Amino acid sequence: MRLKNKPWALPLIQENPQYVVTEPQKFRGQWQERFAARQPLMIEVGMGKGRFILEMARQNPDKNFIGLEVQTTATGIALKKQLAANLPNLQFICGDGNEITEMFAPGEVAGIYLNFSDPWPKKRHAKRRLTYRTFLAQYQQIIASDGLLEFKTDNQGLFEYSLASLNNYGMVFDQVWLDLHHSKEAADNVMTEYEEKFSQKGQPIYKLAARFESKN
Ligand SMILES: C[S@@+](CC[C@H](N)C(=O)[O-])C[C@H]1O[C@@H](n2cnc3c(N)ncnc32)[C@H](O)[C@@H]1O
Repeated sequence: MRLKNKPWALPLIQENPQYVVTEPQKFRGQWQERFAARQPLMIEVGMGKGRFILEMARQNPDKNFIGLEVQTTATGIALKKQLAANLPNLQFICGDGNEITEMFAPGEVAGIYLNFSDPWPKKRHAKRRLTYRTFLAQYQQIIASDGLLEFKTDNQGLFEYSLASLNNYGMVFDQVWLDLHHSKEAADNVMTEYEEKFSQKGQPIYKLAARFESKN
């Protein structure tokens, strides 16, 4: 979903290169150098305003996190939160997830989060869904061999599509939740902005956790 353009967002991003990278290909294979400690790198593709990735970074100081977002305004809003929190294990990329293999080297990423990705309900737009096979192929290139892909959504159609897409790609499911907030997993769940909005309306939240089958 497109946010209304905030004219302050781009200048704020440009003033804070310590937190936001706008030319991510320059750091391919070297992301660990941007963090205080070398530790597993987790990324969220389409972080929106950053609530999830900020909270994950706060709760998991033994991991590094990168929030990737294509919209300047959303990245700017996330950056404002990070400027207040100053988490040493959090960085942002303002860029397109469709170029992820140019941003990260093979195996550089330990885990990938997709949260409430745009559903693109029209069949002719299926290629834009972040769980379409061309995106899966890119995730497979950058994720470590035991790395986990986690996906949450309120959208039943997108969830059904994604289950089939990941299965057809040959991925192995660790677990699937059809009502995350009423499951045992709920206690450890970190909510996103969209998740709070949709769950308040009483909609069930779907989640899957899956891995690429080992190449050995
Ligand atoms: C529906 S919002 C969800 C935001 C957040 N993950 C949440 O759950 O609150 C989807 C976000 O993904 C971003 N997005 C969509 N396609 C993207 C892409 N190819 N690369 C990076 N971000 C993308 C959109 O700009 C939008 O901010």
